[in-house]
Amino acid sequence: MTRTEHLADGVTLHLGDCREILPTLPRVDAIVTDPPYGIGFKYSGDYVDHGGERYRALIEPLRGLPIALLQYPVEMIREVVPVLGPPDDVLAWVYPSNTPGRNFRLWGIWGLKVDLSAVKQPARNPDSSKVKNLFVNSYTWWEQPQVKNVSEEKTDHPCQIPVSSVDRIIRLIGARSVIDPFTGSGTTGVAAVKLGCRFDGIEREPKYFDIAARRISDALARPDMFIAKPVPPARTERPVGLFDTKGR
Ligand SMILES: C[S@@+](CC[C@H](N)C(=O)[O-])C[C@H]1O[C@@H](n2cnc3c(N)ncnc32)[C@H](O)[C@@H]1O
Repeated sequence: MTRTEHLADGVTLHLGDCREILPTLPRVDAIVTDPPYGIGFKYSGDYVDHGGERYRALIEPLRGLPIALLQYPVEMIREVVPVLGPPDDVLAWVYPSNTPGRNFRLWGIWGLKVDLSAVKQPARNPDSSKVKNLFVNSYTWWEQPQVKNVSEEKTDHPCQIPVSSVDRIIRLIGARSVIDPFTGSGTTGVAAVKLGCRFDGIEREPKYFDIAARRISDALARPDMFIAKPVPPARTERPVGLFDTKGR
């Protein structure tokens, strides 16, 4: 089953398999995504996430595209690097967790430039009178709790990530148009539209598609929040597919 929902000018959600839909979409600045990986994890619908071989086959079509991809450190090296090649940059999102090996995740960056001056954060030693109130360029790692059941932003998606983690990545890579082929609850879309980016999201489970549509619509509609108008889609004589290198 496939369905397309236009939420605003330049903001569209696609229900279906990203391997079929992604090649039909116009070229964008960046793919920003958190593909499914989770040791036999059961999502809604028929998708059982086995990691390994199935995961590698899912991300294979992303090779060669400008991409920021989230993964646990061991899996990043073991599963992602063999498929996408060595990343151009790596950033770490660190959070409290008692699970060994599961207390930080990496954002691997391919084909994009990270500008650490695009995000400021407080100096690491704020007690020093010299650096008090001093904000410095972003570090290559930062702390941000995971989304928990009690988190305000929590939805019914089992592996939702915080909007702020994706917001930071989009700022650091300076993207103005983003695709998330594994949209889940729409976190990338929420971060993207709040930053005024064009956004296309793909999700194959209707339940998560509906959650994403609601969240992104809320983010677009919230009058108490500054939401820049999405940048209108670039006009080309014909759509330039992501896999069409002629237009590059
Ligand atoms: C790790 S989750 C993404 C979670 C998301 N970052 C969030 O914060 O909600 C991965 C999502 O990819 C979806 N998915 C799995 N295979 C897919 C495919 N072939 N095409 C599109 N979506 C797919 C799953 O249903 C799941 O919702």
